[in-house]
Parts: sequence; structure tokens; C-alpha cells
Amino acid sequence: MIIWLNGTLHEDPATAGISPLDHGLTTGDGVFETVKIVAGQPFAVTKHLERLVGSATGLGLPAPDVAKVEEAIAAVVKADPEIPFGRLRITYTGGVSPLSSDRGTAGPTLIVASHAIEHPAPSSAIVTVPWVRNERSATSGLKTTSYAENVRALAYAKARGGSEAIFANTVGDLCEGTGSNIFCVFDGELVTPTLESGALAGVTRGLVIAWFGAVERDVPLGRLAEADEIFLTSTTRDVQAVHRVDERDLGVPGEVTAAVAKVFAERSAEDIDP
Ligand code: PDD
Repeated sequence: MIIWLNGTLHEDPATAGISPLDHGLTTGDGVFETVKIVAGQPFAVTKHLERLVGSATGLGLPAPDVAKVEEAIAAVVKADPEIPFGRLRITYTGGVSPLSSDRGTAGPTLIVASHAIEHPAPSSAIVTVPWVRNERSATSGLKTTSYAENVRALAYAKARGGSEAIFANTVGDLCEGTGSNIFCVFDGELVTPTLESGALAGVTRGLVIAWFGAVERDVPLGRLAEADEIFLTSTTRDVQAVHRVDERDLGVPGEVTAAVAKVFAERSAEDIDP
């Protein structure tokens, strides 16, 4: 594990100390990005940095200095150039603050960390959860570090044999997973929830729409039961087939899912920063 914290590289997480007063820790006042590392190189870094800036300013944090973040990413990647497949995480918080919801004046904390991870499983079982994404929340669409709802929902899905949990939003429409976007095939048409549903503007989702095409349309959560195919997209899953939704088996990846996965693999191999 390599960690860059406010300008210093650490190889041991224990030496990379964060203040107990950091607002990211005390209130979840922070934003983050997960970037995929492929053969030692970060993938789609420009799009991730654009989203990082959007999430930070959307949360009222000062815009991160992109050149500095790029420098931190370069330092982390250089310190561990052999990672065949990995996760690089950028975390940017409100920094040292009072023990309240007020933000302090010390300035943000910036952390970039990376480590190798396993390749994603070829398919996933998804579990719908009894809680909702609030598409009208102050933080809707922002990739904030306030992930406790996702932690709770993922544990709920895992306890039921799933590997991802799926949320509806407050009006009962299909929204997204705890760390992924969702696509469904209905009668040959590839559909994904709109961003107005409260789903994160996933980098992988955007690339699938650009490279393959999909209709952005909201559908009730219950229509998952009628989907001919379902797949998830995320930085660490790429395009991942869904073989089970709650109690319903969908079997092997369908034709559309396989075609999207193939296009995604080919196009992403051609350009490390699409
Ligand atoms: N998660 N929706 C949510 C809530 C997410 O957290 C993520 C990413 C996505 C997919 O976005 P992208 O394609 O840009 O990765 C959708 C990352 C992988 C994580 O939790 O670490």
C-alpha cells in the first residue's frame, strides 16, 4: 500500500496520520474517486479528476488543485509501478475542523492511496434493499465520503448471498448500486436510470453510453423482475453481468451484456485516458 498524504509518501498506513479532528472522519465531509490501475497506469484519470472537482465544489469545498492531485497520483504510481490491476483512491476532505458540522479554516486534506486488487468476478448476484437513495438530497450526484448507507446496504446484500445491493430512489424508481451503476435490457433495448434518479454519473456508465449506446430512462424498481439481462458498471467491475436478482436466476451473461463487455474491453485497451 502506497499512501500520499498532504505531500508526503508513506509505505506504511500506520505512519500516515490523520488528525482526529479531520472533518472527513468526524462528519463524512469529503469527496473521493476510485481510479482503476491497469499495468501500473491509472485509467480515465481526466474524467475522474473532473468528477472530483465537481463533487468538491458541489459540497462547498474549495476546488482541489488538479495539478497537485496529478502530481500525487504520479508519485503513488511511480512508487509502486508493478501493480498489474489495482485501486487508486483519491480522498479530499474538509480538513481539521471543530467537533461540529462547521468546517474549520485549516484547509482540505488530500490523500492518494493505491494497492493491488483481484480482478472482478465475471458476474454478480444483486439484492434489492429496503432503503432508498434520496435523489433530492443536498449531496445527490456527488461522490462524497459519506458512504455509511452503502456500507449498511452492501452488508445486507452479502448476508443474502449477493455481491451488490441495489437501491430504488424516493419515488420507487431503479437507481444504482452501492458502488456501481445498473443497466437492464428490456425487449432488446438497453436502458439505464437517468442521473436525475439520483444515480452517480459513473465514469464507466458514461463510457458505455458513448461507446455502445443506451437509453437513459427511469423505470420502477419492480421492472428488474422483467429484465432479460442486467449488468453493473463501475471502475473496479468494468461491465459485470448479473446472474441473479433477489430470488430470480438470469443464468449466463446475455448477448447484449457480452457485446457491451467486449466493446468496453477493446475500447479501454486502446486508450488509457478516454
Ligand atoms: N464506486 N455509483 C456509486 C454510488 C459509486 O460509488 C460508483 C463507484 C459508481 C460507478 O462509478 P464509476 O464507473 O465512475 O466507478 C456508481 C467506486 C468504484 C467505489 O466505490 O470505490
